[in-house]
Amino acid sequence: MSLINRIFRKPELIDYSAIGTDVHSHFLPGIDDGCKETEESLMLLKRMYECGFRKIYCTPHIQAEYFRNSRETILPVFENLCNAVSEVIPGLELQVAAEYLVDEGFEKQVKDGLIFLGNKKHVLVELSYFNPFPEFRNVLQDVLMKGYTPVLAHPERYLYWPVDEPVFENLHAAGVLFQVNLPSICGYYGSEVRKRAIDLIERGFVSLAGSDIHNARYADAVCDGLNNKKVQEILNSGVFKNPEIFG
Ligand SMILES: [Fe+2]
Repeated sequence: MSLINRIFRKPELIDYSAIGTDVHSHFLPGIDDGCKETEESLMLLKRMYECGFRKIYCTPHIQAEYFRNSRETILPVFENLCNAVSEVIPGLELQVAAEYLVDEGFEKQVKDGLIFLGNKKHVLVELSYFNPFPEFRNVLQDVLMKGYTPVLAHPERYLYWPVDEPVFENLHAAGVLFQVNLPSICGYYGSEVRKRAIDLIERGFVSLAGSDIHNARYADAVCDGLNNKKVQEILNSGVFKNPEIFG
């Protein structure tokens, strides 16, 4: 290649193989506000595979009020989807965990036995978008004391906390891992959430990324986001430790 061509050559775009493993998604059909039918799940999982993902954790909601899932509701649906995926997308590994809302029912979930994310006792947790559960600090502390590692889903979406609110630093220092949503850095939830996600990354709090895909609109945002310069820059930076922790 000539010098001129080398200078003006567009940089190679990387895809999500830089992450490889998605640690947060709602592909299990019909049990939460995610995919509704197996066909929809397969279509979106195929897109994820084409964008570079090779392992995907299905993390349906478990909440005291709206999505009262349990092993009994999750595992049979997971098994069915695994069977379908092995036929249609044989190179894609599907795994199962859950996204627990820290609410009045969570302590009982901890007592009864959590569905962990991976095999090192990580647990994916989310907070309310409106008001954090008043006891959330004690609850997370208890989880840490038991030797589990909370993975806080989409901290950028808890708009009641400014990004310089000490709670982020305190949780991070206590050992909570932060997982930002790929749709956030791709702009799916708007410019404020995008900026907050980037701020939290730049402050050094974030170590994981998840798609949090519920339907085709999220998948469009995640896949099209690969054309975004800032998304490319973040993926290239190696900030996301998905392969090291969950690969
Ligand atoms: Fe989620």
